Amino acid sequence: MWTLTVQLGDRSYPIHIGPGLLDQADLVVERMPQMTAALVTNTTIEPLYGLRFSAVLEARGVRVVRVVVPDGEGYKNWESLNRIFDLLVAGRCERRTTIIAIGGGVIGDLAGFAAAVYQRGVPFIQVPTTLLAHVDSAVGGKTAINHPSGKNMIGAFYQPRAVIIDTDTLETLPKREFAAGVAEIVKYGAIRDEAFFEWLEQHIDGLMARDPTALGYAIERSCVNKAEVVGQDERETGERALLNFGHTFGHAIETGVGYGAWLHGEAVAAGMVLAARLSRRLGYLNDSDVTRIAALLLRAGLPVDAPELSVERYFELMSHDKKVEGGRLRFILLRRLGEAFLAADVPGSAVEETLAQRAMHA
Ligand SMILES: NC(=O)c1ccc[n+]([C@@H]2O[C@H](COP(=O)([O-])OP(=O)(O)OC[C@H]3O[C@@H](n4cnc5c(N)ncnc54)[C@H](O)[C@@H]3O)[C@@H](O)[C@H]2O)c1
Ligand SMILES: [Zn+2]
Repeated sequence: MWTLTVQLGDRSYPIHIGPGLLDQADLVVERMPQMTAALVTNTTIEPLYGLRFSAVLEARGVRVVRVVVPDGEGYKNWESLNRIFDLLVAGRCERRTTIIAIGGGVIGDLAGFAAAVYQRGVPFIQVPTTLLAHVDSAVGGKTAINHPSGKNMIGAFYQPRAVIIDTDTLETLPKREFAAGVAEIVKYGAIRDEAFFEWLEQHIDGLMARDPTALGYAIERSCVNKAEVVGQDERETGERALLNFGHTFGHAIETGVGYGAWLHGEAVAAGMVLAARLSRRLGYLNDSDVTRIAALLLRAGLPVDAPELSVERYFELMSHDKKVEGGRLRFILLRRLGEAFLAADVPGSAVEETLAQRAMHA
């Protein structure tokens, strides 16, 4: 087991990474103020890991209230949040009850937001079960639900007390979901870790075959990157925004095709290629860097061509993006491979041209 720390003063917390961690109740119990937990999951994870983990906690003396919501990005909404609150109240959960999210990013975001506001905030622990949640969403304290007009529009910054990454959970993850997580891994290399990007180019086949050594390294290196950024800029006033590379386009894709049709990681993959091409158009990146990014994503089985929505529709969708400031679209661009920056004044015409020629071969 490796343990990293997200450095946030008295709210610092550990990220434990390794196989078999779901059997180690103490990793959770040592962070709980009271032996009561609400275990939030969905109908898919409940039979795979939820019931088992609940039994592990109960055997350790924890009273467990089980909270199950439907599975899917389309359920990251008010209805599910309300269902969680109803079950917390029915289960007599109090201010010292710990909410534990066990599932992918959808469950983590939903349960985290519930923890942030239930009784003005209760302790929260993340037990992520998708690759995307292991390397990204479970770390850093962003919680949210979607609004019909935009992703993650309603939410809060609320840090967990611990993140427990049991790498064995990836054994049951469908291939398409696994690839989606790789998109966020590639993102760290592209925006701030050129050596990691090169490592990925060399080891992508082993990673896709879920070789335990490659997988463990990729998860750890991603968490190190994420923890560093969050430790420096928890509330996204600066560097943290760079983690949104590919996401302005990506969120537009997710919303534009309807939540759930494209996976978040898939939309981010196609979004990163658009952002790389926009960077090239503005004179920052060269052709070979754009090609390297697209080639790596393709080898991971990810889409690199954005869906055929009209340019107007893309602009309409992007106008809801949280990076809009004073009505201006801001983009995360690459100055070079391994170095991102926030561009506040990207000409609309360059964005339009990039979107108009979105097929890779164009
Ligand atoms: N908070 C953040 O910082 C942050 C960062 C990135 C993404 N996100 C959010 O995360 C969400 C995407 O998360 P995701 O990709 O994990 O999707 P997800 O939570 O929808 O999980 C993907 C699918 O895999 C299933 N699943 C989960 N674990 C499994 C396992 N071990 N075996 C078999 N099936 C399993 C889920 O039930 C679901 O059907 C998006 O809503 C996105 O906005 C948040
Ligand atoms: Zn993302």
